[in-house]
Amino acid sequence: MSKEARTSLSKAATFQDQNAVHEIFSELRREDPVAWCPELDGGRGFWSVTKYDDIQFVSKNPKLFSSDRVHGGITFETAETRRIRKISRSEGVQDKFKDLNILEAGDSMIQMDPPIHTMHRRMVAPGFSPKKLLNLSPQIRKRCVDILTQISGKGECEFISSVAAELPIQMLAELFGVDQEERTKLLEWSNVIIGGDDPDIRIDTDHTITALTEMYQYAINVHQKRREEPGDDLISMLANTEVEGKLMSMNDYVSAFILLIVAGNETTRNSISGGVLALSQHPEERQKLLDDPSIINNAVDEIIRWVHPVIYMARTALEDIKLGDKNIKKGDRLILWYMSGNRDEDKWDDPFSFNVTRNGPRHLSFGYGQHLCIGWRLAEIQLTVCIEELLKRFPDFEVKGEVKWMQSNFLNSIKHMDVHYSG
Ligand code: HEM
Repeated sequence: MSKEARTSLSKAATFQDQNAVHEIFSELRREDPVAWCPELDGGRGFWSVTKYDDIQFVSKNPKLFSSDRVHGGITFETAETRRIRKISRSEGVQDKFKDLNILEAGDSMIQMDPPIHTMHRRMVAPGFSPKKLLNLSPQIRKRCVDILTQISGKGECEFISSVAAELPIQMLAELFGVDQEERTKLLEWSNVIIGGDDPDIRIDTDHTITALTEMYQYAINVHQKRREEPGDDLISMLANTEVEGKLMSMNDYVSAFILLIVAGNETTRNSISGGVLALSQHPEERQKLLDDPSIINNAVDEIIRWVHPVIYMARTALEDIKLGDKNIKKGDRLILWYMSGNRDEDKWDDPFSFNVTRNGPRHLSFGYGQHLCIGWRLAEIQLTVCIEELLKRFPDFEVKGEVKWMQSNFLNSIKHMDVHYSG
């Protein structure tokens, strides 16, 4: 494989043509499953891990492969992440942070290793317990029905803003215990954090500074309220639970707050929009679901395998180690390409066909091991309810016109998609 093709994997623009990227990954899985890839912009280069078993091995060995921010964290360092960091460290923002009593960037669990990771994860785990999710389920269905009622009788809608973005952000406001009116702000901040590689979404420096400081200020205000009057929402858990006899630092709290907004919102939106696109492009698969709604759980698994809302996560080797036939050196970066692992021919028959009755191993879209997505079940419930209710009301839904993808090699995100339907 050419050096250019390997290098291109670190570029967000490459992922605008997903078929071409799948070709690169198929070749790497076949010929060089742990492949050294040079990086643009003076980056230090990385190992592309493309096979299912290797991705699982790395994910379940946090003592060998770190997620910690001090080693490089879980994403590529891109021009955009550098830009946001530079802005966060600029004098203007630092002065504002000082006013807010935030002295340095904090850490969120996704960028921590055990044992500290385990402690932080335990703080919010009760918010995702089976009992909690059972209680939330009727709420999810009611909100979904309300959202679909809004588009009813119109014959067409821009699906991302009307449906796919709405349900997850409403549920996030619910989990945070904040007013629904505030969800627009949560959504806007989330876009600032993740959309910067896309020229349509990227906003100027002043806007980024304003958004970051507003978000920090908001997070701190809610924290104060929950200290005074705790509830059973996620923020109360973060604000009032002690780790080793101490409350979480304000820096870490703000980072945890941001993680939950981004992780809980964008990804679920992408699974809903990607699922609707896949069902529209494969009417025979949609028909199977209409004929037998009891296969919905299978269909949801298949949608999440197919869509891979998160394309990769990164790790850093903590010691010299052999992976596949390669000698990884301590300090080397590894990219776990879920997008590739989910199409591993050794794990699924015909992995490039979308098949809602497929029975196979668990996809990798929620990660694996130590950092397995804490919100996976919540995301699955939202996707299940959304597909069920859509099929009940608008069984002939069809995506029409150009589908516009966000420019990113991290999230597989649709930013614009028109859907037509009768009913
Ligand atoms: C389809 C939807 C979703 C997908 C595809 C997804 C994907 C992922 C992945 C791949 C990871 C693992 C990161 C790693 O190994 O480094 C992760 C972790 C995480 N996810 Fe999700 N996620 C989804 C929905 C959610 C939701 C709804 C929430 C919360 C409301 C959430 C919160 C988190 C958190 C807090 C972590 C960090 C867990 C840890 O570090 O232990 N996610 N997610």
